[in-house]
Amino acid sequence: MGERLRGRNAVVTGAGRGVGRAVALALAEEGANVVVCDLGGTADGSGADASPADSTAEECRRLGVRAVPHYGDVSSFTAAEDMVRTCIDSFGRIDILCNIAGILRPRMIFNMSEDEWDRVLAVHLKGTWNLCRHACVAMRQQRYGRIINCTSEAYAGTVGHTNYAAAKGGIVSLTYAIAREMGRYGVTCNAFAPRARTRLSWGDDSLTDGLQKRIEAGLITEERLKGMEETRKEGADPEYFAPFIAYLASDAAADINGCVFVASRSTIGIWNHPEIVRKLTRDWDIAERWSIDELERLVPQELLVDYVNPAPPRD
Ligand SMILES: NC(=O)c1ccc[n+]([C@@H]2O[C@H](COP(=O)([O-])OP(=O)(O)OC[C@H]3O[C@@H](n4cnc5c(N)ncnc54)[C@H](O)[C@@H]3O)[C@@H](O)[C@H]2O)c1
Repeated sequence: MGERLRGRNAVVTGAGRGVGRAVALALAEEGANVVVCDLGGTADGSGADASPADSTAEECRRLGVRAVPHYGDVSSFTAAEDMVRTCIDSFGRIDILCNIAGILRPRMIFNMSEDEWDRVLAVHLKGTWNLCRHACVAMRQQRYGRIINCTSEAYAGTVGHTNYAAAKGGIVSLTYAIAREMGRYGVTCNAFAPRARTRLSWGDDSLTDGLQKRIEAGLITEERLKGMEETRKEGADPEYFAPFIAYLASDAAADINGCVFVASRSTIGIWNHPEIVRKLTRDWDIAERWSIDELERLVPQELLVDYVNPAPPRD
């Protein structure tokens, strides 16, 4: 138990299970009061159940802080507003927002239904924006806030999850943008990609099958493979790295803004910010229209030096 977040009040979504639960408890261990938000559905987002949110709220209270469960759906703009309002009404203000709720509906793009795309984007990307949108009103007024969003290494490209990869990539871009909009108001916004053994990473056999196919096809990087393997290890519990999220929520992290991390039992890493790494340039004043003839020569020779196609055609 510590005192670093004593007097701070947090909203944590997806806090009924897995990574969100571990983060809610890590914040409570440092003294923060928590609104424990969880719809309580299945891994694909269907159904609802109050018991996961109730259970984590009870665990937080046992740590000596105040905790209120909320059973709303983060994809609803009005439910998200109510989560933020519940924090302000119950505890006085909102200092910390952790957007961790998530679901999976994996399928190759050529088989994915519109509903599978819409629902995953609604929970992850719109849900994260919904909570940020409402929290930023209060955080801007009070000139203080810590927002921590949950992305995935899948954002850099994956197979069998275009909906999830796009949503998590959107969360990275959203994090970069909020960091730049809200920094002047004393609000930081960062993201992390967890590696943890939970029902999302481990509970679905189709993911394990998919992983094997991806390895055989050479479609994922060594680092991504390492990350996926780590989530399947016995003891890869989110409790191990949850203190890192409490650290990001603390005063010690006041100058950490717009960063994207990876966090596991054994690793805390930081992703680079995207930047142009090589260019073809010519003088603006005398530049003519690029010709396909010159591009056929220049792109492979000067722009894509050392480039390797991640998924070349196969027989
Ligand atoms: N476990 C990993 O290794 C891993 C890797 C990368 C990213 N993530 C991300 O971590 C986050 C947490 O996932 P987890 O692994 O702990 O899975 P989990 O299924 O154990 O927890 C997710 C929680 O979110 C809740 N939830 C889902 N939809 C909701 C909604 N619409 N409104 C409110 N609550 C909702 C669920 O009820 C559940 O309790 C997700 O965003 C996931 O994409 C996890």
